[in-house]
Amino acid sequence: MFPAYSLFLLVAYMVVPAAWAQTCPTTPSLTSYLSTSLPDPFTFADGSTKVLTLDDWACRRAEISTLLQNDELGTMPADPQSVAASFSGDTLTITVTDGGKSITFAPTITYPSMGTAPFPAIIGMGGISIPSPAGVAIINFDNEGMANQDSNPASRGVGLFFNLYGSSASAGAMMAWAWAVRRIMDALEQTPAARINTARVGVSGCSRDGKGAVVAGAFEPRIVLTIPQESGSGGTDSWRISDSLLANGTDTQTASEIIQENVWFSTNFNQFATTSVNKLPFDHHMLIGMVAPRGFFAIDNIGYDWLGPFSSYGALVSGRTIWQSMGVADAMGYSQSSNHSHCVFPTGTAQQMQLNAFIDRFLLGQAVNTSGITTTAGNYVFPMPNAEWAPWSVPALTNGTSTTTASSTSSTSTISSTTTVSTTTPPVSTPTGVSQHWEQCGGIGWSGATTCVSPFTCTVLNSYYSQCL
Ligand SMILES: *[C@@H]1O[C@H](CO)[C@@H](O)[C@H](O)[C@H]1NC(C)=O
Ligand SMILES: *[C@@H]1O[C@H](CO)[C@@H](O)[C@H](O)[C@H]1NC(C)=O
Ligand SMILES: *[C@@H]1O[C@H](CO)[C@@H](O)[C@H](O)[C@H]1NC(C)=O
Ligand SMILES: *[C@@H]1O[C@H](CO)[C@@H](O)[C@H](O)[C@H]1NC(C)=O
Repeated sequence: MFPAYSLFLLVAYMVVPAAWAQTCPTTPSLTSYLSTSLPDPFTFADGSTKVLTLDDWACRRAEISTLLQNDELGTMPADPQSVAASFSGDTLTITVTDGGKSITFAPTITYPSMGTAPFPAIIGMGGISIPSPAGVAIINFDNEGMANQDSNPASRGVGLFFNLYGSSASAGAMMAWAWAVRRIMDALEQTPAARINTARVGVSGCSRDGKGAVVAGAFEPRIVLTIPQESGSGGTDSWRISDSLLANGTDTQTASEIIQENVWFSTNFNQFATTSVNKLPFDHHMLIGMVAPRGFFAIDNIGYDWLGPFSSYGALVSGRTIWQSMGVADAMGYSQSSNHSHCVFPTGTAQQMQLNAFIDRFLLGQAVNTSGITTTAGNYVFPMPNAEWAPWSVPALTNGTSTTTASSTSSTSTISSTTTVSTTTPPVSTPTGVSQHWEQCGGIGWSGATTCVSPFTCTVLNSYYSQCL
């Protein structure tokens, strides 16, 4: 029914949309932007151009990425000059060099007692709080050492990332962690001795580290399954709905509180957090949607008002419309549980079976049905379209070239309401009959190119998705 998605994975590897400037709408100045409802993911920031095709979504996704970097998370640095890796014992030692400086960090890998190498893996932000799945390795990433998250302002700009890029780099801690997840992927790809199948790597974390898992999944397209657990505000919550919950008397973490508490965000976010989040030309349903069409499963706990579980629910229901628009809603699920302590996963429950289904499909490559895993434990109701929060209808995105009108060929984008960011152009492929590195090259419903540009091989990740690796 829906033509397969085709080109948007190109953009997934980009941080900024400079290379799309010839076909993507220009993002206007958004200094007077104001929206009490969640911004429509299917209308460009110019307020009029609609997302109708998968190519349009590639443009819109790049725009969302830039806006999130400029106004909330800080800049994802361009790929560094070099990433060197070695493996010994259970330790992957990674040295990243850029601009004449180097840093070294060393995630450890816990291998499963069953299964066969190369193993699928989950990168754990400070470890994982879900049960270790059988047959899946766990890569223990010390996100705290990469970018400190102990307090604001003392931990701002502290950590290995800032040794490399300077303590005044715009990135908040979460963007620094996402950068490091990308370097872990670089290192795994060049280190077969680590015995990890780099086509089947997920990311997870709980609470603050769950916020980081969402950002890593959004900004690293090689991650095939993103599993935020009880991530709350700054993760799967909507800034707008969280503010409304607090205003209505539910003690929920909001933007204005969170920027005082920690350094997860860029200081660029303060202007919105301290005035009105309604000035943000995005909300976290769009951060979530950057993960589409890859696997995404959010685990929530309605037992804590502070986590804003209804806010998360609203953002997840809204964000899922992006998967729906591509005809792959079954790649995105969410599940709430209750009656347990924060970050203590309820093993053996229905939620465990839902988690297993996503892991089996996306990490173990099994033909498992992940359709309709959208569970509320709180009898929450959030119809779509949602007149108050999400008043858009969901297009069925079509294959084919962009229908948007060209209006800019500049390689410098002025997008933020306050900041001008000079963009660099990462290597970007042009669409041909051959898929480029990281692009889709097969799967159920796929009608695009099925061969890969040399030296990459079309690799079956699951029955829905093959990728040039
Ligand atoms: C807060 O209350 C207002 C007024 O009743 C309502 O419209 C809004 O939906 C409530 N917010 C949330 C998050 O439930
Ligand atoms: C949580 O506990 C309450 C009170 O004991 C009970 O009524 C409810 O069914 C429990 N919910 C779940 C999901 O176990
Ligand atoms: C997958 O699960 C959904 C929801 O339970 C169900 O409606 C659908 O028929 C299932 N699909 C297949 C192919 O079994
Ligand atoms: C979809 O797009 C791809 C890549 O441009 C193209 O090769 C393919 O023929 C298109 N399929 C349909 C059904 O339009």
